[in-house]
Amino acid sequence: MSIDSHAGLADIKALESSICEIDQGKLSYRGFDINDLAEHSSIEEVSYLLLNDALPSPHEFKDFLAALKAEYSLPREIVEHITHVPREANPMAILRTLVSSLGLHDPEHDDHSIPARYRRGLRLLAKIPLIVAAIARHHDARSIVASNPDLGIAANFLHCLYGEEPDRETAHLLDTTLILYAEHELNASAFAARISAATRADTYSCLVAAISTLQGDLHGGANQRSLEMLLTMGTVTRVDEYLLPRLKAKEIIMGFGHRVYKNGDPRVPVLRKMCTSLAEKKNEMELIRVALRTEEIMLKEKGLYANVDFYSGLAFYLLGLSAKLFTCVFALARTPGYLAHIAEQRNANKLIRPRSVYVGKSNRKYTSISSR
Ligand SMILES: CC(C)(COP(=O)(O)OP(=O)(O)OC[C@H]1O[C@@H](n2cnc3c(N)ncnc32)[C@H](O)[C@@H]1OP(=O)(O)O)[C@@H](O)C(=O)NCCC(=O)NCCS
Repeated sequence: MSIDSHAGLADIKALESSICEIDQGKLSYRGFDINDLAEHSSIEEVSYLLLNDALPSPHEFKDFLAALKAEYSLPREIVEHITHVPREANPMAILRTLVSSLGLHDPEHDDHSIPARYRRGLRLLAKIPLIVAAIARHHDARSIVASNPDLGIAANFLHCLYGEEPDRETAHLLDTTLILYAEHELNASAFAARISAATRADTYSCLVAAISTLQGDLHGGANQRSLEMLLTMGTVTRVDEYLLPRLKAKEIIMGFGHRVYKNGDPRVPVLRKMCTSLAEKKNEMELIRVALRTEEIMLKEKGLYANVDFYSGLAFYLLGLSAKLFTCVFALARTPGYLAHIAEQRNANKLIRPRSVYVGKSNRKYTSISSR
């Protein structure tokens, strides 16, 4: 039996889910089109939707925000832990370690009931952005900034990162990027979270599995690498001379191609438009021209379209984020999706344990070490 046609589990439908649908290039969360959510909603409302399978009433949303903001601080032990990690360590390795450590300080650590799991989800939604901001500040030898409970997740993250409240457009671009990143069906890291959840591992273990899987540059690491490429090209006149020899040498260009979207990633048009608007204000239009020419060449030469990471890398750069932090921001954005998958898996569980096709040697005779 061969698995060539399904290498990497491509096109295998591994389980049933009611969280996210990708149908003929259209992406929706819980039945709501991603474009509607990106235009009209907020990351808090989308998080509620992903966790509860319904949009909140005004009253439910008020309670949800209050519960979320009540978690807008880090345990003292976590703050101390951050100040002791090596400044130059990989931020994703620090995030993975600190999310694991956060589990040790969860006041409801041993409560695995559904309500406790829900509260834990809110705790993680509120605290992971604070950890990411603290990692960045520690890296730059700056002190950690306390949350502002008047701000939503995106604006508060920027406040904790820069020590000042962001303007509305900047916070809005980050909020939209978080919405577009919040969930994406059975991507590698969500699948890793589900495999852990299916063994009945606790939420923190599942998230650590997800964050570890997100780290690789074929998944969450692509946004940093694609932005670095855009900056290296720098001007539109350098794009062809940079890309063409690399394509000829069959190099992989980060931020292009997708396992599921073969005719374009539906998250790209919204992000491209927002990046262009911010780039105009920040006098960075040359980078947009570089990005557009890169898209043109990739389509002409390889038939490949830009994916979400290509423009989110650019969005994060325009927001002033350090490239080293990009994958951590992807991780904090994807947390609502991970939590929805962990809950769905736990609520109708079946251990995930596929088989492999054995292709090794057979019927070998053991001989003792002295006669080898
Ligand atoms: C995302 C990705 C892993 C999907 O992989 P996949 O579905 O397994 O697709 P394949 O690797 O089989 O690609 C098919 C062909 O296109 C080529 N290709 C795919 N993505 C490419 C890219 N970004 N740059 C150059 N060539 C690419 C492959 O080399 C392969 O060529 P071949 O048939 O000559 O061997 C892949 O497109 C990739 O590595 N992209 C860059 C990383 C990235 O942006 N990741 C974020 C995804 S959201």
